[in-house]
Parts: sequence; C-alpha cells; structure tokens
Amino acid sequence: MASAPPPPGAGDPGSATVSQRRGLARTAVVWAALETALGSVLRERRAERLRVLDVGGGTGDFAVRVAGLGADVLVVDPSPDALAALDRRARERDVADRVRGLQGDVESLSSLVEPGSVDAVLCHGVLDVLPDPAPAWEAFARVLPAGGLLSVVVGQLHAAVLARAMAGHLHQARELLETPPTSGPRRFTVDDVRASATGAGFGIDTVHAVRVFSDLVPSALLDLEPGAAEALLALESAVAERPEYLPLAQQLHVLATRV
Ligand SMILES: C[S@@+](CC[C@H](N)C(=O)[O-])C[C@H]1O[C@@H](n2cnc3c(N)ncnc32)[C@H](O)[C@@H]1O
Repeated sequence: MASAPPPPGAGDPGSATVSQRRGLARTAVVWAALETALGSVLRERRAERLRVLDVGGGTGDFAVRVAGLGADVLVVDPSPDALAALDRRARERDVADRVRGLQGDVESLSSLVEPGSVDAVLCHGVLDVLPDPAPAWEAFARVLPAGGLLSVVVGQLHAAVLARAMAGHLHQARELLETPPTSGPRRFTVDDVRASATGAGFGIDTVHAVRVFSDLVPSALLDLEPGAAEALLALESAVAERPEYLPLAQQLHVLATRV
C-alpha cells in the first residue's frame, strides 16, 4: 500500500491549530491500528486493491485517508450534506476516483451492498446513534467474506459517567450508569461490544482505548506548551493497548475478523 497523505496537521502537530491538534490526538490511535490492519488484509488477500465500505462515513475523514492507501472506498451515509462534503474532500485530496458516496443507512445495507463483496467494513461513531445497534453487526457480517476486517468505534460508558460526575451532574451520572439512555447517544462497555461481535460471527482481534486523555487536556496547554501535542499523542498511544485503560476511554476501537 502506498503511504496515505496525512490529515491536516498530522505531519507537524506543532504547526496545527488547537482544534486540529486535539482532533489528531482523538483519531491517531484508531488510524494507526486501522492502517496496520488494512495492510495485513491486503497482504493476505493478495489483492491489488482493497474494497472498503465505510458505513456512516460522514464527511470522509477516514474514507479519504483509506483511499489514500490505495483502496476503493464506498461511503454509505444518510446525510446528503455529509456526502457533498465527502465529495469535496476527496477531490481536494486527489482521491475522487477511489471514493464513492451513496445515500443510505445501515438498516438498508442489504439492498445496497452485495453479500461478501467488500474486504473491510468501517463503522465509526455510528452505532452510538442507532435506536437498535444489534442488527448492524449482522449486516456487517453479511457484506464481508470469511477473513474480512471489521473496524468499529463506539462511545464507552464509564468515561461518560465519570465526565458527568466531574461536571457536577451527579444524578445524570447515576442515571447513565444504571439505565440505557432513551435519547442522546448510546454508550457501550467492553463486554457489550465483545458479545455483539462474537454473536454476529466475528473473532475479536483487538479492542483499543481511544481518547483517554484528549478530551481532558486544557486547550491552553495544547496552544502554548511547546511539544504538548506530541506528548499527548505519545501518551494516547502508550495506553491504547493497556486493558486497564479501557474503562477510562471515551471510545473503544474494535478490530474483528469475519470467521
Ligand atoms: C459522528 S458521525 C461519524 C462520521 C465518521 N464515521 C467519522 O468517524 O468521522 C456519525 C455519522 O453517522 C451517520 N448516520 C446516522 N444514522 C445513520 C444510520 N442509521 N446508518 C448509517 N449512518 C448513519 C451520520 O449521518 C453521520 O455522518
């Protein structure tokens, strides 16, 4: 695979804006693991190009980076605005010939994508907003052949409980802990995602802790302290694979293989 063009600010965190530096720290762990996993699938399949489906890919932050690795990427998303932004972003990054947007949703995936027709499925930050995420795992299993890669990012329950308590919303924190929310984003535990993935026919490869520190570090530190952005990235990477940090992570990144 050719090397992907870096996202804005990725090459030199020191020259990026505070929001770009924070954004980079939020996605760095996911991207590093995903890039390695896609490389392995490419080698195993001995394919010239990977076919990647990004469900709820939105404006294409990941889709465009994956296309930069040389893959063909189909983004299925219900938002026409997001798809228009995806199109612009793909053209700006010179990968428009490898990125296609299709209006649709995870619920209609079976009518949009042939069974077993893609090598990898990404679904980042989407299961959190679905009324019932269970059928989505089945839909991912259906479009992947045996050996296909699944990359899922979801919000993690315990960090959200802690964040509410630290903001002084103690009743909300307890409510979130004890009752699945009826509105707003859903949160998951490590056990939830493991059970859903294995129940749908996936073997779990890794579960990474994502955004353990990125949302907690004050903007002023990232703005003013030389080397803080690089130190934050290094710290996020250092704890990503340590299971004791999973309950502290804002998000979980699951990499799984279709059995
Ligand atoms: C938080 S954004 C994540 C975007 C992208 N995956 C990323 O990581 O940058 C959530 C995306 O899910 C899309 N979405 C919402 N409901 C969906 C559904 N039922 N099926 C597929 N995508 C959905 C939204 O339009 C939005 O683009």
